[in-house]
Amino acid sequence: MRSYARSDMRVLCLRSQPLPQAHPILPFAGIAPAPLAPKTARGNARDLGMADGGMADGSGTNGDALVIFTPSGKRGRFAVGTPVLTAARQLGVDLDSVCGMRGICSKCQITPGYGEFPKHGVTVAADALSDWNAVEERYKRIRGLTEGRRLGCQAKVMGDVVIDVPPESQVHKQVIRKSATVRDITMDPATRTYYVEVAEPDMHEPSGDWQRLKDALKGQWQIEGVEIDLPLLRRLQPVLRKGEWKVTVAVHKEHRGPARVVDIFPGFWEGRLYGLAIDLGSTTIAAHLCDLTDGAVLASSGLMNPQIRFGEDLMSRVSYAMMNPGGDVEMTKAVREAINALALAVADEAKIDPKMIVETVFVMNPVMHHLLLGIDPVELGQAPFALASGESISMGARELDLTAINPAARVYVLPLIAGHVGADCAGVALSEEPNKSDEMELIVDVGTNAEILLGNKNRVLACSSPTGPAFEGAQISSGQRAAPGAIERVEIDPVTKEPRFRVIGCDLWSDDPGFAAATATTGVTGICGSGIIEVIAEMRMAGIVDAAGLIGSAEQVGSARIVPQGRVHAYVLHDGSADGGPLITVTQTDIRAIQLAKSALYAGARLLMDELHIDKVDKVILAGAFGAHISPKHAMVLGMIPDVPLSKVISAGNAAGTGARIALLNVGARVAIEGEVARIHKVETAIEPRFQEHFVAANAIPHATAPFPELSKVVTLPDVAFNTGGGGGGADGGRRRRRG
Ligand code: FES
Repeated sequence: MRSYARSDMRVLCLRSQPLPQAHPILPFAGIAPAPLAPKTARGNARDLGMADGGMADGSGTNGDALVIFTPSGKRGRFAVGTPVLTAARQLGVDLDSVCGMRGICSKCQITPGYGEFPKHGVTVAADALSDWNAVEERYKRIRGLTEGRRLGCQAKVMGDVVIDVPPESQVHKQVIRKSATVRDITMDPATRTYYVEVAEPDMHEPSGDWQRLKDALKGQWQIEGVEIDLPLLRRLQPVLRKGEWKVTVAVHKEHRGPARVVDIFPGFWEGRLYGLAIDLGSTTIAAHLCDLTDGAVLASSGLMNPQIRFGEDLMSRVSYAMMNPGGDVEMTKAVREAINALALAVADEAKIDPKMIVETVFVMNPVMHHLLLGIDPVELGQAPFALASGESISMGARELDLTAINPAARVYVLPLIAGHVGADCAGVALSEEPNKSDEMELIVDVGTNAEILLGNKNRVLACSSPTGPAFEGAQISSGQRAAPGAIERVEIDPVTKEPRFRVIGCDLWSDDPGFAAATATTGVTGICGSGIIEVIAEMRMAGIVDAAGLIGSAEQVGSARIVPQGRVHAYVLHDGSADGGPLITVTQTDIRAIQLAKSALYAGARLLMDELHIDKVDKVILAGAFGAHISPKHAMVLGMIPDVPLSKVISAGNAAGTGARIALLNVGARVAIEGEVARIHKVETAIEPRFQEHFVAANAIPHATAPFPELSKVVTLPDVAFNTGGGGGGADGGRRRRRG
């Protein structure tokens, strides 16, 4: 497992915090203002940093105090009287501050250690820090302060000291994802709050309130060139006066473009800001509501993309736009309304004010991208599949009619990789980082269109492959979307050919006692995507289907579950007709649909392997909600993916959504993925002559020519072969070469 917060990434992501200037302050919210740091005998300059000749590595002495920070291990010598926060800033130690050393935000809490520290070669005396002061005392009395903690802006270095920075005092906290593939995210959101004290208007030096607020941001936080939109400017004067010229400003500072005020609050505001990471899929829209302070996911929710009423798949929506004047506008309106509804739903679930959502990051395929932005997707429906723009986009949420969230909220859209390889694939690349892998990784995001990445730290390629909707249960006779009652797991006894299955919403197998009662409400309604893969793979493993994908007759297979359908056959998986339920069968047409889909997927992967001149990969990562439910063994029996040890087939869950969340919480990640997308080599499957060749060979189950040695270690596929005559194959089906 790799960590997102590699040392190089941290260097990339960490944002140095400006050192605010000390400012005279007035009492606020019951918390006394901090006095300015006193000048030491060595002069004011010494207050702000290392002693003359002091070395950040702690090698200098000159009578200055050695300050060692944990867990970073950073150390340096500082003049006696230097505030701990100042020392931290000088050394680049990650210690937060919102109030600018005024003793009111408590973000700068530290825990000093006393006594012997043999590891650091230092003894810390009881008076290594200045005495507990009145600001800290008052803060503790009113707001509470954990025993042993000090405020880093108040405590001053008086002697050698070891200082621990607790996680909650770090700006760039690590957010640990608890999933199969763990990535740490280093917090560095684009939007943060800054407390400032603004000069009052002066008749003798006339200037606008906004100009003086800008001066304050520049002077106290070194934020220059900040911009403000008119609606916020209208609110500025009452807020400044209500706060008695002290305000907290939420500022969005991205990796490009000017800093922008997104909200302003009177006085010192201790509220939280939130962001949405949205994976806008053609079928579903999924949103994670994240706390921009600590990265916590407060709520996750999803809803069906309402554009489905204009067309099930992407191309039918493009067709709708082509055939119906204004059709694209209708679809744009529908999806924007849905996103507003989703924002309100997650805010409600998390019990937060939706207006405190100040950022939204989107990943999506190119057609969804164009429709969200209000760009007619017609060019994506025909060669050469030109994007209006593939670059990442930063804009105001208002431009997308996202009225449910903060009116000045910002939107970031990850870059698109190509005409059929979208920002969702860029999200997968950001989450899974094939470009940092030693192993050759094949990453497959299975949907209506499979998006495929192949590569390692040397080179990464991408393509999309037109798998169609069969993997999602569409075009399958008993297929349905994943919902309670849908068959998702299947096992078939290779001797009796009898199946047993599980449905979504029930942990029991169909042959377990109590299954009927447990599924009485949902019923057994159909087969979802993962179920159809399992049942066909199980049929192949049980000798019901041959390598060509043909279902044998009842005589050939030796099972009454095979029923004739014209010149071909179907396998009865479940007959609920006696109770008024459905007859669920797997037909020859179903198998053909899955063969086409899996051949397209394999051929796309194989094409990328050709480009890299390789015949095997080290690892297969299945991304997407569907990938999370596919059984690796069954996927490989079908030949959806190249042969690798089963232990090397990994599900990454919703990697695209995770990529959106990473980009939401870390501005550096936006820079990183923009650079990486520019480096990814795109392969267009539609114009590659070898695609067809690979497609045809991949039609067999698992494959006509490629060996599957790893698969054969765990599964022995029966050597059956059935012809279309429905009986000419003989009871043994005509023996064929044993695969593997
Ligand atoms: S910096 Fe705000 S309380 Fe110390």
